[in-house]
Amino acid sequence: MPPAMAEAGLSPLEAFGARIEAGARQGDAPNARLVAAMLSVTGHMQAVLDELRPDLDELRALVGFLTEVGYFTDSRRQEWVLLADALGLSAAIEDINAPRPQGATPNTPAGPFYRADAPDVPLGGSLCLDGKGESLRVTGQVRALAGTPLAGARVEVWHANDQGLYENQEPDQQPEFNLRGKLTADPQGRFAFHTIRPAGYALPGDGPVAMLLTRLGLSLDRPAHLHFRVSAPGYQTLTTQIFDRADPAIGRDAVFGVKPELLAEFRAHPSKDGARTHSLDLNLVLCPLDKRDSGPVGGA
Ligand SMILES: [Fe+2]
Repeated sequence: MPPAMAEAGLSPLEAFGARIEAGARQGDAPNARLVAAMLSVTGHMQAVLDELRPDLDELRALVGFLTEVGYFTDSRRQEWVLLADALGLSAAIEDINAPRPQGATPNTPAGPFYRADAPDVPLGGSLCLDGKGESLRVTGQVRALAGTPLAGARVEVWHANDQGLYENQEPDQQPEFNLRGKLTADPQGRFAFHTIRPAGYALPGDGPVAMLLTRLGLSLDRPAHLHFRVSAPGYQTLTTQIFDRADPAIGRDAVFGVKPELLAEFRAHPSKDGARTHSLDLNLVLCPLDKRDSGPVGGA
């Protein structure tokens, strides 16, 4: 049957879906997953059109927004990733693909500021290269689900400074590798380092994603946090963030990374010279590579 007759009575979106199905039946579409995704998206787009009945100005506004996201994306900035983060897509897909058993530290997206080439830092050493900010001493232990300490685990840390900025955001202002480093846990899985208390920050406010959130009356804020990537032979690598539970933005993280298990207390301590110091103690619990050993999934 000619396509025009086969598509009689269908909306253009339904006709597009019918063409995808016809192509798949004829073996013209080798990627079944892509076919399934496009059929699902097409069907949901039709439902949106039926519900909202947008006009041409609104279509132009959508195309203009997507065009702006593209214009703001380059080798130093990924506005598309920011859009996925702000819509909750990144965190949702992380949850789908990395379910953690109860007791394991949850995964979160790594975010855009990770550097794989950060230097090694000895246990008890400092990540702070410019001496700015209130001091923070971090201690912790890397464990398996059963509580076994993971001797020699690799602990990568990176975080923003007391102005909410990462060193690679302002290479002219901060020393390279400021507030980032790699440590090796001791035979008891313990690690310790000195750094400064990070500030929270807002998503970049000059682009289309921020404009979208602002027009919706939504927060751009991210509560203060430390990023960790922890690895040990035989265990799934954990990428996560530990949040300052006292941060006023803790309930409105713009990229949905906050989970109850990731809240921590940055304890304040008076010091003799009047400067505030802080301490943080945490456990980071890894899952074995073999998921059959990882217990019941849930509790994210
Ligand atoms: Fe961050």
